[in-house]
Order: sequence, then structure tokens, then C-alpha cells
Amino acid sequence: MKLSEVIEYNLKKFKELGLDNPLQEIRYIILETIGISLEDQIFKKELVINKSQILKLEEIFEERKKRKPLSKIFKKVYFRDIILSVNEHTFSPRIDTEVLIDVLIQQKINFKNILELGTGTGAISISLLNHYKTAKSVVTDISKEAIYIAKKNAIFNKTNNRMHYICCDWLSCFKNLNFDILISNPPYIIRSEIKNLEVEVNKYDPLISLDGGYDGLAAYRKILGSIKAIGKKNLLVLFEIGFNQASQVADIMNEYGLEKIQVFNDYCNLPRCILGKV
Ligand SMILES: C[S@@+](CC[C@H](N)C(=O)[O-])C[C@H]1O[C@@H](n2cnc3c(N)ncnc32)[C@H](O)[C@@H]1O
Repeated sequence: MKLSEVIEYNLKKFKELGLDNPLQEIRYIILETIGISLEDQIFKKELVINKSQILKLEEIFEERKKRKPLSKIFKKVYFRDIILSVNEHTFSPRIDTEVLIDVLIQQKINFKNILELGTGTGAISISLLNHYKTAKSVVTDISKEAIYIAKKNAIFNKTNNRMHYICCDWLSCFKNLNFDILISNPPYIIRSEIKNLEVEVNKYDPLISLDGGYDGLAAYRKILGSIKAIGKKNLLVLFEIGFNQASQVADIMNEYGLEKIQVFNDYCNLPRCILGKV
């Protein structure tokens, strides 16, 4: 069978399902499943694939048609310049989050000691340590399965010797915060809206990674409350936020005494992260 026929058939199916980037997803599936490069997929119009390749592809296309996200099908994600393992216990890192790392690099914000709360797969810290070669990071999560994956990813990406892992509820196990910067992409979806999210999210990302309480802001209040109690002067705080939460989170940061608050947009030009100083 010609590869172009397989692409055409599944493109129609993916479009019927309303997937956002159907052709991009199909090309990714072909590359990851049977190793045919994007160049060959595009330029070798007559390329024929064999029965075993067709069967392998069909299996993956079927999974995707059931709305399982590619990250959970292939159990991995490309995040900036690193590759991360994901599984059913971890939030799949999103491209939106990459902007947190880029903001720190572009603002020439320098630091040696990072504290990351709710690390999930370790995406933010591993990516930062990959850039800041002498920095260290303490990473936390309430999920021990997430901590396990973060450590596995750190070993794979060679940042493990500069990372320390703690399983705990936000800042409950810290007596002081001797860090230069605290970073977090906490759960920020309004609880009552979780059921309306795409199946890819509400079925395949752990509920604990999404649930931001009745107004989506519970984690910011909890973390900032603890920072007020034990944070040291000049500690930088960087949060990812929902695109419509900037003013609410800025208000909470103000309320808890943070200063010099700045909001940064992501690559779709939507407010995506907020920086402040204790
Ligand atoms: C939106 S995910 C972000 C994961 C990762 N930092 C990223 O950007 O891909 C939120 C993370 O916070 C963790 N989390 C939720 N509640 C927590 C709590 N009370 N204390 C610590 N971590 C928590 C979840 O397990 C999840 O890994």
C-alpha cells in the first residue's frame, strides 16, 4: 500500500474527529511508529509500506481515534531541547510552559538555587538545568509516581546530580526558603470546568494536576500564603497561569506582599506567566 493512501485515509478520519493539527499528528505517528522521516513522507509520493508497517500504524491510529493523546500513546514528549518520559500518572508537559524557561533566559535572570513545586515529569527544572549548567534544583510533587518519573527523566537528561526530590504538599515540609527562585506550574483549572475539557486532558492528565479548586486559584493562594510565612527577602517567584488569570493572580501576589510583578505572554501572545519578588 502507498504511504500517501494511508495518510489520506487517516487525515479524513482525524478531520472528522475535529483534531486540531491532523496532518502534523499523522506525520508524527508515522515517524515515531515506522521511522519514515518527514522529508520522505512529503517528497517520496510513491513510497510503499509493507503489511507489518500498516498493522503497526493501524494500532496507533486507532488509539488516537479514541482520543488518547500522542504523549500518552508514545509515553514521551519533546519539551524545548529535551525528551521526557510521561505515563498515566503524570501531566503531559505543554509547549505553553516552555515560555517560563525562555522568559528567565531572555530577562537574563541568573540564579543558582531553584525550588520547583509540582514538578510532574521534571520538565521545567530539567530544561532550566540544561541551560544553567551550575544551577541546582529542589523539585517537589505530591505524587510519588511523578517524582519517580522526574528522577528517571533527570537521569536520562543528565541533570540528576544537580536535583533533589521531595514528595510533599506544596510548601508544607519547608521551614525556610533559601532559594533564589521559586517556580511552579500549579493546577489552575476551575474545578467545575474540568469535565468540559477535551478528552485528551480530562481523561489522560491526572485530576490532581488540573484541579485548581472552585475558582482555579487555590494553589496560588496556598503557595503564596506559605511564602509570606517563610519566604526570604528578594526571593523571585515565577508561576505559569491560565491565559485569563493574570490580573487575579497579580492581585493575590500583591495581597501576599510580592513586588515588581510582571506578566509575560506565550507564543500565541496570551498571558502565560507571572513573575514577582518577595
Ligand atoms: C499542571 S501540572 C505541572 C507539571 C509540570 N511542572 C509541568 O509543567 O509539566 C501540576 C503538578 O502539580 C502537582 N501537584 C498538585 N497538587 C500538589 C500539591 N498539593 N503539592 C505539590 N504538588 C502538587 C501535580 O501532581 C502535577 O505534577
